[in-house]
Amino acid sequence: MATTTPTALRDLDACHHLHPFTNHKSLRADGSRVIVKGEGCYLWDEDGNRILDGMAGLWNVNIGYGRRELADAAHRQMSELPFYNTFFKTTHPPVVQLSQRLAHLAPDGFNQVFYGSSGSESVDTAIRLLRHYWALRGEPARQIIISRRAAYHGSTIAAASMGGIKTMHEQSYPVYPGFRHVIPPYWFGEAEAGESPADFGLRAARAIEEEILAVGPENVAAVAAEPIMGAGGVKIPPPSYWPEVQRIVDKYGVLLLADEVITAFGRLGNWFAAQHYGIRPHLITFAKAVTSGYIPLSGVLVHDRIATELAAHDDDFHHGYTYSGHPVACAVAIANLDIIDSEGLIERVATQTGPALAEMLQSFADHPLVGEVRSRGLLAAIELVADKSSRRRFAGEGRVGLVCREHAFREGLIMRAVGDTMVLSPPLIWTQSQLHEAREKIRRVLDLTLADVAGEISS
Ligand SMILES: Cc1ncc(COP(=O)(O)O)c(C=O)c1O
Repeated sequence: MATTTPTALRDLDACHHLHPFTNHKSLRADGSRVIVKGEGCYLWDEDGNRILDGMAGLWNVNIGYGRRELADAAHRQMSELPFYNTFFKTTHPPVVQLSQRLAHLAPDGFNQVFYGSSGSESVDTAIRLLRHYWALRGEPARQIIISRRAAYHGSTIAAASMGGIKTMHEQSYPVYPGFRHVIPPYWFGEAEAGESPADFGLRAARAIEEEILAVGPENVAAVAAEPIMGAGGVKIPPPSYWPEVQRIVDKYGVLLLADEVITAFGRLGNWFAAQHYGIRPHLITFAKAVTSGYIPLSGVLVHDRIATELAAHDDDFHHGYTYSGHPVACAVAIANLDIIDSEGLIERVATQTGPALAEMLQSFADHPLVGEVRSRGLLAAIELVADKSSRRRFAGEGRVGLVCREHAFREGLIMRAVGDTMVLSPPLIWTQSQLHEAREKIRRVLDLTLADVAGEISS
């Protein structure tokens, strides 16, 4: 069945493919966009349009598209050993080599890795590990995990329950018990009038402490947080936030889970965001850019404190996936890490492209639609507002973001809309040339969006 014309593909897609996170009525009405090729920082659609990918796929294609080395690594490993499991005391070379490599790159004290295939699986694994750890320590009451409102931690029921996305909770009632959600460190959207970012950062961190005290520290397993909230809208915490959170988890002896599904492998200019912020988690979940999205792989880096406890008990940890440590995925991950390393991509984010992106964003700060720009490394957000001075949003949250996203697509740029926050997470291989192209396109896209909503703007 070779059906290749764009119209036929779109029709078949609507008939047979149920898309994730999609309004199915509108997809049936409009059809989908067929992406047929990727190379470097660019994608091509079915009509031959070249599109600059400002999102690195879904925050994951850090080395860009079309890298032969990863295809070769997959081919070699498939020819040698396409699959064997890691249950029943078996292992294979790629999973050993990758685990050693990750332990070397991770912050001190992380020497063991548990694998899955998706970020959601890694989060489920982390939840089970946390509760299992406390049970082994003789404190089984420590079940509660404190997370933040609007946080995205994945789509399985446990990961969505740990996440703080209301619309997901509403569709999966009952959410699992044992999760509490506190205010996110989102100064732009949550600060009170006149509250400085520093004061707000402390207040948001102390909401965690209040929650620990409200439920009783003896019932709290962990605080779970992305170092920077990504899919929740690139919410970058004020500098006062993380040191205070670290103080609080230390004070109450609570574990810290850093969900680095987006932030790991170079996005902030370090291998891990825990290094960027100087925080000391006990579990680090990762996925996405470990293979730059070329093949699914995820995992949890497990701190010695937890790994040692597991090894001290003569009992199974009853958890695992068929594809835990899949050999082909591990081989591709190694080839991907080799490229990130040998091409100095992380250093480039820290010293060149990250600062250049920040400077580019500043050039939009005076645009009538823009309430705030913010970035860390190659993770950025542009807030669209109806009134700059009061930070008033447009009526119908997300409507203007979608208008802007569609203009961006038509101009040949992929930006994502989270409500009315436009976000960028480009491949780490962006150069001055792509930054210049993005600057021109974003300026045009903002102007086109402004023209559509001019009547709603307060000047
Ligand atoms: C921080 C975070 N955790 C977990 C996930 C879930 O990952 P996956 O979609 O691979 O299940 C995501 C996905 O975007 C994420 O951003």
